[in-house]
Amino acid sequence: MRRKIVAGNWKMNKTPSEAVALVNELKPLVESKDVDVVFCVPDIDIIPVVEAVKGTKIKIGAENMYFEENGAYTGEVSPNMLVDAGVTYVIVGHSERREHFAETNETVNKKVLKAFEHNLIPIICCGETLIQREQGVTIDFVRTQIKSAFARVPASNAKKAIIAYEPIWAIGTGKVATPEQAQEVCQEIRSCIRELYDDETADMIRIQYGGSVNADSAPFLFSQPDIDGGLVGGASLKTDFGRIVNYDRQLAYRI
Ligand code: PGA
Repeated sequence: MRRKIVAGNWKMNKTPSEAVALVNELKPLVESKDVDVVFCVPDIDIIPVVEAVKGTKIKIGAENMYFEENGAYTGEVSPNMLVDAGVTYVIVGHSERREHFAETNETVNKKVLKAFEHNLIPIICCGETLIQREQGVTIDFVRTQIKSAFARVPASNAKKAIIAYEPIWAIGTGKVATPEQAQEVCQEIRSCIRELYDDETADMIRIQYGGSVNADSAPFLFSQPDIDGGLVGGASLKTDFGRIVNYDRQLAYRI
């Protein structure tokens, strides 16, 4: 049985002092014995946020990293810096980075390999545009992204990875995929991992859905057989995040 994992992606929001205030507000709301909770925050917020979550089970993630250890890469942050600051997870290949910062399937793969070298767990993002969905190429496109991201990654590491399926048309638009649409692609991603590796890896790897997840849609999305939680943008900056983490209580309440 896979443990659910719900990660907030704060994107470029919250100054260090605002970040600490938000964490202190969310801390009591995101307590869960069944769900792993991660806050992925801007680099400058990492150190104060790591300090603020001490004594809780919340883990901290970065939103990006570079694939070199150190050197003349002005403005970049390396995996060893993240580890030293107390980071456990790192988002890799978010569609906003692919769109605005020239992230490619190749750089995503380099970052995935580098993250594992440092025992960071990558949250590997994939997902199609609206045009691709309308053209019926979603599955092929996402499969290509996954195959490329996992190139040269051994099964022993692949099984620890998190994949976030985030249809681009659903990100920040308020237009959440239906549970059936999300399940269909997440199931395909798991089959792709089964083909690349084996049953054990496919059954262990955790696949999140992301794209306008909110407290109302989370229970229906997260109860799909191949959806193991969510990567949450806008709603992770609000108390709603607590209701998303505790989606199963809402489910019990609704039934
Ligand atoms: P959203 O963002 O929940 O605001 O749509 C999700 C993401 O980009 O990870």
